[in-house]
Amino acid sequence: MNRALGLAAIALLGSITIVGALYPGAAHARAVLGATHPDGVALYGKHCASCHGRDGKGIPSFRAEGEPDFTDPGFQRSRSDQQLAAAIANGKGSVMPGFKDNLSDAEVGAMVGRVRAFGRKKAK
Ligand code: HEC
Repeated sequence: MNRALGLAAIALLGSITIVGALYPGAAHARAVLGATHPDGVALYGKHCASCHGRDGKGIPSFRAEGEPDFTDPGFQRSRSDQQLAAAIANGKGSVMPGFKDNLSDAEVGAMVGRVRAFGRKKAK
């Protein structure tokens, strides 16, 4: 991806996240987890995009380890917000690290919102 396109994608994802915050699912995640961290896009870029891709679709070598495609509606339906939060906090399988030592509860909640936003992008 060229740089201009990358920046445009980041700007687009940012606006989707703001729209996403209005959806009931995101509100639910915030209510459950007390998440108010505004900077989910930056945190995702820092901690998650190297494995899950900036577009949330994953990266072939990690997909081979069972990494889900966050834009897949089937994946989105198959997990509750609590399940996503638990995987992000505690890790999953042999590759996905747990982030509870590096992210606050609010930040984990913001990451759940970020993962959900990838699903809404496609469903729109
Ligand atoms: C070192 C690579 C790596 C990093 C960094 C990483 N992940 Fe993952 N992630 C994976 C892999 C691989 C899986 C599949 C794990 C499995 O199902 O065994 C996964 C699975 C997941 C799942 C699905 C859990 C489920 O219920 O099946 C979520 C949600 C997730 N990651 C979110 C994140 C978020 C948010 C971050 C950043 C805070 C992150 N990941 C960072 C590799 C990574």
